[in-house]
Amino acid sequence: MDDCLFYPYLNKQYPVIVSAKGMILTDSSGKEYIDACCGAITTNIGHGVTEVIDGIKAQLDKVTFTHRFKFTNEASQQLSVLLSNLSPGENNKVSFASGGGEAIEFAIKLAREYYIEINKPSKYKIISRWQSFHGNTLGALSAGGNILRRKRYSPMLIDFGHASPHNCIICPHLKDNGNCALECINDFERTIHREGPENVAAILIEPIVGTSLCVSIPKEGYLQSIRELCNKYDILMIADEVMTGVGRTGQFYAVQYWDIVPDLITLAKGLGGGYIPLGAIVISEKIYSAFKNNSQSFTHGYTFGGNPVASAAGLEVVNYILKNNLIHNSQEQGKYLLSKLKELEKKYQFIGEVSGLGLFTGMKFVKKKNPLETFPASDQITNKIVDTALNMGLVLYGAQGCIDGINGDGIIIAPPLNVVKEDVDTIVNRLEQVLLKLFSYS
Ligand SMILES: Cc1ncc(COP(=O)(O)O)c(C=O)c1O
Repeated sequence: MDDCLFYPYLNKQYPVIVSAKGMILTDSSGKEYIDACCGAITTNIGHGVTEVIDGIKAQLDKVTFTHRFKFTNEASQQLSVLLSNLSPGENNKVSFASGGGEAIEFAIKLAREYYIEINKPSKYKIISRWQSFHGNTLGALSAGGNILRRKRYSPMLIDFGHASPHNCIICPHLKDNGNCALECINDFERTIHREGPENVAAILIEPIVGTSLCVSIPKEGYLQSIRELCNKYDILMIADEVMTGVGRTGQFYAVQYWDIVPDLITLAKGLGGGYIPLGAIVISEKIYSAFKNNSQSFTHGYTFGGNPVASAAGLEVVNYILKNNLIHNSQEQGKYLLSKLKELEKKYQFIGEVSGLGLFTGMKFVKKKNPLETFPASDQITNKIVDTALNMGLVLYGAQGCIDGINGDGIIIAPPLNVVKEDVDTIVNRLEQVLLKLFSYS
C-alpha cells in the first residue's frame, strides 16, 4: 500500500507487520520473523501478554490522562513504589517520561538544578564517554559519544566533556586487554580536571555499553572507581539503564552486579516493554531532600510524563517480570545463549569477540580472528548481516562503529526475558545460517 511515511531509509521496502506473539512477528504476506533483539531491546516480555493488555484496557476504561502539574493517579503512584522498592540504596523517588532520551534530559536538568538548590551554581557540566549513547535529543546526544550518531549535528551540540571509554579491545591507553590498572579511570579524573570539578554536575554512563561498543562489560573495579570519583569531587553519578535495566542483564539494574548505588538512574525501553512509550528517572534521597529543603519545586517535565495509561502498562510489565521470575530466567538463559554464541566464536574466523551478561549479548566481526582487523566501514558488514538476517526471518540489532567509533561491525542478540532453551537454540541456529550465507570462509 502507498503511504505517506517518512522512512529512515528511503530506498528500502519495509515489511508490514500485522501481528505478533511472543518473539514471532508476522508480516502481511504471512512471512514470520524471529525477533532476537526485542525490536530495539524493548519488547522484553514478548508480544501479546494478556495481563499487560488487560491492565492497559482496564486503565483506559477508568481514566486516560491527567496532567502531572495538577493531579496524580493510582497507576503512577503504584509504579513509583514498585521501582523505588527495586532500586539500590536510597533511590526512593521516581518521575516518568515517554522514553529514554526524555529520561536522560530530565536527569541532566535535575543534576544541574540540584547544584543550584545546594548553592553550587557553577556546576552544570555533564561528563560522559566517547563511544556511549544516551539518546538522540540534542542534550542527550551532546552528552553521548557515539561518533556516527553525533556526526551530522556536531555544530549544534553542547560542549560537554568526554572521557575515554572502557574499550579493552582497542584500549585508548594502549594497555593489553586483561593487564591494566584501569588507566581509563585516570582519564576520567583528568577530564574532570580539564572541565574543572567546580563546573561538573554529573558523570553519565551506561554501566554496560550497548550499541556503541556492542555490549562491553566493564572490568571489576571500574564502576566502583567512577563512584569514588563522584564522591571525591562532589559529582552526581547517573546510571543510564535505558537498555540494561528492568532485568535485561539478569539483575533488575545492571549496576547491581557491582553493588553500585548511583544518584540517578534512567530507565525506558523494557519498562513499557513495547506496549507503550515509557521512561523513568529514579532519584536519590540526597537529591530529593535538596529540593525539599530549598525551593520545593522541580518543574521540568513532559506533558505525558506519569500519564495513567503508560504507568498502568509499566506496572503490569514489571509485575509480570517479577511474578514469572524472569530476571532469574534472564541469568540462566543468558548463560546458555552466551555459551552457544561462544561455540560459534570458536568455530569461525570472522567472529572476533562474543560478550554478554544475562540476555544481553554482543558479537563482533573481524578478518581472520584478529580483534583489531576490522572490515572497512565502507563494506557495510553490519548492515549486510542485519539485512540478510531479516530476509531469512531473523531480527538482529546492528552495532556499527563498535571498535573505534567508525570501524567495527557487531550485532546485539537480546531475545525476550521469557525465552526457553529451545528458543535460544532456534535463534543461534538461524544466526549461524545467516553468517554462513554472508561469509564464504570460516
Ligand atoms: C543507553 C541508552 N540510553 C538512551 C537511549 C535513548 O532512548 P530513546 O530512544 O527511548 O529516546 C538509548 C536508545 O537506544 C540507549 O540505548
